[in-house]
Order: sequence, then structure tokens, then C-alpha cells
Amino acid sequence: MKKKITITELLKMKKNNEKIAALTAYDFPFAEIVEDSGVHIILVGDSLGMVVQGEESTLPVTMDEMIYHTKMVSKAAKHAMVVGDMPFMSYQAGMDQALYNAGRFLKEAGATAVKLEGGVTVSPLIKEISNAGIPVQAHIGLTPQSVHQMGGYKVQRDEERLLSDAKKVEAAGAFSVVLEGIPADISIKITKTLKIPTIGIGAGPDCDGQILVLHDLLGLNRRHLPKFVKQYVNLGDMARDGIKKYVSEVQSGKFPTEEHCY
Ligand code: KIV
Repeated sequence: MKKKITITELLKMKKNNEKIAALTAYDFPFAEIVEDSGVHIILVGDSLGMVVQGEESTLPVTMDEMIYHTKMVSKAAKHAMVVGDMPFMSYQAGMDQALYNAGRFLKEAGATAVKLEGGVTVSPLIKEISNAGIPVQAHIGLTPQSVHQMGGYKVQRDEERLLSDAKKVEAAGAFSVVLEGIPADISIKITKTLKIPTIGIGAGPDCDGQILVLHDLLGLNRRHLPKFVKQYVNLGDMARDGIKKYVSEVQSGKFPTEEHCY
């Protein structure tokens, strides 16, 4: 049986200059595909609000929805580490709320770790959650839950603030940090400064690992794609072609044939 990736192994990968491949997934069949493809970390991201639920932002996603999706992903992930993303307002209201909700990801949904957005301001929460035995992945730079506070999805360029956020979350006990929407030259500095692995998304090639939203990579998101996305396959068009053929064969009587009958 395959062994589950641990936070110790991720630290070792950074030390050995071995890149970490992370990807999101939100349900069992896609998590199986991601797992089979050798990804090290599967994030059940609150991006599910936008790519699965059709929302305009990640803000409406609830804790119960995150638990529902994380459960499905955990069943498929034998090797990859499953990280549950703490949705908007599941940790911002205080320590007790943050601890309780972080715990739910491990107790109810089979995750190994949780992720939450923010730097200096959330570092006390990261410390408490880590102290409770729950590994925390931090997320700094462009933090989508703060879209209104940032005035849109904007690249974050304040080097001093970013470095200070990165150092604070590491000191608080985060085992890794996602760097989103950060100029590549700043990401290098952060990656060199920290002992914990940096996982980049729109943060250049020199992070310790990379993450993308699965539906962006697979061509299942028809909305505007940010510059940092590489679409590796157009599964959306492939599915449409197959389904159009099905509709046409049903209408023409070509399907089902004798081989599909009892
Ligand atoms: O919600 C998400 O999918 C994320 C990743 C893009 C890092 O936070």
C-alpha cells in the first residue's frame, strides 16, 4: 500500500531541491485521477465556489460544503496529502471558531492539514491550530477571500509586507505557505528565506512547488483565466464533442444497439 505524504517529507523535498506538485480537487473521480498522476498535495480549495458551484467569488462557500467535498477527496487520496481549505468566515471570528472548524477537517473529512489565508494577522490562529496538532498551510499575497479589501484580484507587490507575512506564518508553525499573485523576484527571496516549502500560484518558477486549480488546467473553466494558468488539456471541448455525438445518436436511433440490450 502506498504511504501517505507527510509534512516531514515535504520539508525533505525542499531540502533536496525536489519540486512539489500540488493541485486542487473537489470530488472522488477527479481526486482519483489527480492521485494516480503523482501529485503530492491535493488541496480541496474554496475555489470550488467558482469552478464547481458557479459563484462569482469564493466568499459564499460554507464549512459544511467544504467538509462534504473534502470527504470525497480523502477517500481517493491514498498517497497525496489532503489539505482542507478553511472558507471565508470559518476562522476570522476568533480562536475558538478557528480551532473547531480546523478540527472538523481532520475529524469528519479525513484531511491531514488545513489551509487559511493571511499573514501577520492570522499568525496567532496558525499557532493555536498547529499547537492542537493540526498542520496548517498558510496562504499569503493575493488572498481571494479578501477580494473586496484588495479592490480586486490584484498582484501583490509590497515586498516588505510579504516578507514579514512569510516569516510570521513560519514562526507561528505553518508547515508550508502558498504564495499567490506575487512577482517572481519577491517569491525567490521568500523561498530562500524560509525553511518551510513555498507553493506558488502566479508566483514564478522558483517556489519549492506549484499549485493550480484543477478545472483551469483541464479546460473545464470557461471564465477568464489568469495569466499564470497553463491549460494542459481541453476536457470541456472533449466532453462537449462526446455528448453531442450521444444526443445525435439518440435522435437518429443509432444508440442503443443490440449490444446494449438485455
Ligand atoms: O482555493 C484554492 O483553490 C486555492 C488555491 C488556488 C491555492 O486557494
